[in-house]
Amino acid sequence: MATHSIDPEALRVRLQRQLAGSYLIERELGGGGSSSVFLAKDIALDRPVVLKVLPPALVADVDAERFRREIQIAARLQHPHLVPLLSASIDAPAGDHEQVRWFSMPYIEGPTLRERLVRRGPPPLPEALQLLREIALGLAYAHARGVVHRDIKPENVLLNDGIAMISDFGVAKALDDASDAALHAGRRITTVSTALGTPAYMAPEQVVRSATVDHRADLYAFGCVAYEVLTGDPPFVRSTLRATMAAQLAETPVPILKQCPGLPPALAEIVMRCLAKEPLERPASAAWIVRAIEHAMAWTPAGAETDAAAVPAPAAAPPPVAAQCLRRSILGTALALVAAAVLWGVLG
Ligand SMILES: Nc1ncnc2c1ncn2[C@@H]1O[C@H](COP(=O)(O)OP(=O)(O)OP(=O)(O)O)[C@@H](O)[C@H]1O
Ligand SMILES: [Mg+2]
Repeated sequence: MATHSIDPEALRVRLQRQLAGSYLIERELGGGGSSSVFLAKDIALDRPVVLKVLPPALVADVDAERFRREIQIAARLQHPHLVPLLSASIDAPAGDHEQVRWFSMPYIEGPTLRERLVRRGPPPLPEALQLLREIALGLAYAHARGVVHRDIKPENVLLNDGIAMISDFGVAKALDDASDAALHAGRRITTVSTALGTPAYMAPEQVVRSATVDHRADLYAFGCVAYEVLTGDPPFVRSTLRATMAAQLAETPVPILKQCPGLPPALAEIVMRCLAKEPLERPASAAWIVRAIEHAMAWTPAGAETDAAAVPAPAAAPPPVAAQCLRRSILGTALALVAAAVLWGVLG
C-alpha cells in the first residue's frame, strides 16, 4: 500500500549517510516494491533490525511535536503480541528536506500472515483461533493504553515462530497525522495513500475520514482479517480500491456461517459483529473478543460431544470447519487444473 515518490536507491543512500556508524543497511524488504522498509545491521549490538522510513514527501508536513508524542506513546507498548519499537529519528531539523525520519524494530524472521495465507491458504480451525486470539490480545493491550492501530491487515501481522505479532503500532497514526496535514495544506501527494489505511480492512468511518475514528475501527479491521483467516477471503473483494471502499460503506457482508457452516457459532457471531457498519454495534472491546475466541476454543461441534471424563481431550475429532471452507478452494484448484490440461491439449 505504501508508496514513495523518491527512488528507493536514492532513499537508501540518503538514509545510510544519515545512519553512518550506527546501522549498516543491507537490503530493502517487501520485494523492493512499494514500501520503504530496510533490513539493516545494528553495528554496536551486531544484530539485525528493520528500519521503516517515513515517506519523504510527508516529512515537511509532520508536526514535529505531535509526531514525537505519537512515537513515544508507541514506544511504551511492550507486549508479546506487538512488535516493539526500538528507536526512532525524531528530531529532523525543521526545513531540512534531506533528513529521513525512520523507526527501528526487531527483525522478525517468520513470514507475515499475508505470506502464510498465500502460501498455505486458510489455516485449520485450531491454528486460526490461536492466531486470532493472539492478535486480539495485542489489540486489547494497546487499546487499554489508548493506542489505536488504524491499519490492521495480514501484512501487519508477523509470525514469529508461529506466534502472531502486530507491527506498525502507533506508526499509522503518526503517518495519518502527517497526511492530514498534507491534505489540509492542499498538497496532492501520492504518499498520502500510505496513511489512509487499506481498503479491504478499512472501517466505514475511516473510509469517510470521520474525526471520530477510535479503537472500534481496529475491531472492524480485525473482523475483516478474521473473516479472511477463516474463509480465505476478506468480506469485500472488489476490482478497484474505490469499489472496495464503497462496499465497506454500504454492502452487507455474506454471513460467515454461510461460507463455513462448521464454525463455532460464538466465533461466527463475534466476527460478524465486528463487521457492523455502526461502531456502537461492534463488540465493546478487543478483550471481549479474546473471551469469545476462548469460548470458541472450548467448543465442540454438535454430535461430537463426548464424556469428557472418559475420553482425553486430544482424542476429540478436530472441528470440520477447515475442510468445509477449503472445499471451495479445492474445487477452484481442480477447475483450474482441468482448464490448464485442456489448454495444454489444445496447444500441444
Ligand atoms: N519487523 C519486521 N521484521 C521482518 N520483516 C518485516 C518487519 N517489518 C516489515 N517487514 C517486512 O517488510 C514488508 C513491508 O512492510 P511495510 O510495513 O512497509 O508494508 P505493508 O505492511 O505492506 O504496508 P504499510 O506501509 O501499509 O504497513 C512486510 O510485508 C514484511 O514482509
Ligand atoms: Mg506494515
